[in-house]
Amino acid sequence: MNYEIRSIQLKDASGINAMRRMPGVFENILGIPSERLKRSEDFIQNMGPNSHQFVAVTTLDDGNEVVIGTAGLSVYENPRLRHSGSIGIMIHKDYQGMRVGTALMEALLDIADNWLMLVRVDLTVFVDNERAIQLYKNMGFEQEGVKKMGSIRNGEYVDELIMSRIRLK
Ligand SMILES: CC(C)(COP(=O)(O)OP(=O)(O)OC[C@H]1O[C@@H](n2cnc3c(N)ncnc32)[C@H](O)[C@@H]1OP(=O)(O)O)[C@@H](O)C(=O)NCCC(=O)NCCS
Repeated sequence: MNYEIRSIQLKDASGINAMRRMPGVFENILGIPSERLKRSEDFIQNMGPNSHQFVAVTTLDDGNEVVIGTAGLSVYENPRLRHSGSIGIMIHKDYQGMRVGTALMEALLDIADNWLMLVRVDLTVFVDNERAIQLYKNMGFEQEGVKKMGSIRNGEYVDELIMSRIRLK
């Protein structure tokens, strides 16, 4: 499959909104099926200089572009946290397991390492999200702790892992 990774644009909002409501995605990203397009439009429009968001897009035979994944890095705004940031990622259900997540993470970590020189990147992930945990371990993240009953998922409170990647030159 051919796809391109590029910085997010306002026209990607509907693709992002669709993924945030998509079974196979929303359960693990704190999305909710009732989420509105405006939330994604506002998110893109209000991104500041500490937000870095890539999308992976492919072009279908009919010429239409489809957003097949996105990943973002937010540098913490507090001046005493400026050496660190957090990451979030989601891949369209039909394109999972095709290494798009790996490619998006590599693009984000290049920004973190070489262009922002962050020391610490962190994230949270549900304890049973094995594919995501494998991806993060592949990228050098390690488990730091467990946030007990950290989020709601399908009628339950679910534990989350806190993971981080520390990089000292
Ligand atoms: C988790 C997610 C981001 C991973 O992206 P992806 O493009 O599907 O993953 P990749 O194809 O790049 O594979 C990543 C690794 O996971 C491994 N993997 C695939 N399926 C797996 C599974 N069921 N269990 C464990 N590891 C698995 C792959 O083999 C690969 O590791 P390898 O390179 O050592 O072989 C993506 O599946 C997704 O968006 N899922 C739904 C939303 C979500 O969970 N987001 C993350 C919230 S913290």
